[in-house]
Amino acid sequence: MAKLELIATATFGLEAVVKREIQDLGYEIIRSEDAKITYIGNEEAIAKSNLWLRCADRVLLKMGEFRAETFTELFEQTKALPWEEWIPMDGKFVVNGTSVKSRLFSISDCQKIIKKAIVEKLKETYPVERFAETGPLYSIKMTLLKDVATITIDTSGAGLHKRGYRAADVAAPIKETLAAAMIKLSFWNPDRVLIDPFCGSGTIPIEAAMIGKNIAPGLSRKFVSETWPQIEPEVWKKARAEAFKAIRSDVELKIYGSDIDGKAVSASRVNAVQAGLSDDIVFRRQPFDKLDIQDDYSIIITNPPYGERIGEKKDIEQIYRDLNYKMSKNNTLSLYIITADKALEKALKFKKADRRRKLYNGRIETTYYQYYGERPPKE
Ligand SMILES: C[S@@+](CC[C@H](N)C(=O)[O-])C[C@H]1O[C@@H](n2cnc3c(N)ncnc32)[C@H](O)[C@@H]1O
Repeated sequence: MAKLELIATATFGLEAVVKREIQDLGYEIIRSEDAKITYIGNEEAIAKSNLWLRCADRVLLKMGEFRAETFTELFEQTKALPWEEWIPMDGKFVVNGTSVKSRLFSISDCQKIIKKAIVEKLKETYPVERFAETGPLYSIKMTLLKDVATITIDTSGAGLHKRGYRAADVAAPIKETLAAAMIKLSFWNPDRVLIDPFCGSGTIPIEAAMIGKNIAPGLSRKFVSETWPQIEPEVWKKARAEAFKAIRSDVELKIYGSDIDGKAVSASRVNAVQAGLSDDIVFRRQPFDKLDIQDDYSIIITNPPYGERIGEKKDIEQIYRDLNYKMSKNNTLSLYIITADKALEKALKFKKADRRRKLYNGRIETTYYQYYGERPPKE
């Protein structure tokens, strides 16, 4: 198999988590910076990364990187890349791009030049004047940063947060990749109780259950590179078979999700069924103040509501008072809470946050506050 350079893209702040995931898959990292982790892999790595990376946004195949200060440089260096090794005669290829602090700033011109360069290169291999572009999709991306162009092909298709289980939605669901990262950044393990008392569509409990049972997050969906003739179907088949074998069906989980809104609870249940995890998570309709946390060393991982409207503010202040009350009653409880509400830290007086990280939920800047409870004796 060919040695390839791959790039996993991630939300700002999650680079270290994604880097760890790639290392756990056994691949060598060569660079990690600004929401991009570059590593060495092969065709199998494309399949495995798409199937297994829980916290990355996409997996890109790096075609090349070069300085381009003029359109001629962009054209010639793009043409010099081995496009014929990836794009078949009927391949459909689209070009997108971004330019930051670079001389070439007209994205539409850069797109046209890149497309032209690829066409010219492919004509040297395929005996056609026009390409029908009726076959598999190759989504090409150019990022120009300080006159350095990085050219990639997207291997994922839909973003990796699209796991395939979200049949029912609620307002403001958390991104699946971020929910998975919240769990990975916590001390939760399947021996401990996990509670999301503001579960909405159930993303956090479902992601936790998938982690607890070692279910590859991409197992129920397809990826665009599965349609590429360059990657043998056998490679995908093997990677999927290994992922099925890796599922730990014997693990018993104690994961609970609740929400004040009956529709949200129904959505959570539907989504858990879609994910094949309906027996592993208990969802119930319940306002937070009525929630009774019985088990010591339970871990709350959640994103509570945050609103700007006056009425909502009052409700949220009450939620913070309830949190203070519940957390101060039992110092074995841990709380991991993500919010865009800057007032949270001041309002939670039961303890100072042990750790805070700035993370993005889509475009919204949020902070992930971590309050560690006492550890169970055996840990
Ligand atoms: C930001 S959303 C959570 C979204 C969720 N993480 C998801 O991925 O869909 C906050 C949730 O808190 C719920 N909520 C608001 N007030 C509540 C209360 N007092 N008790 C329990 N749930 C409440 C809302 O119904 C909403 O579903």
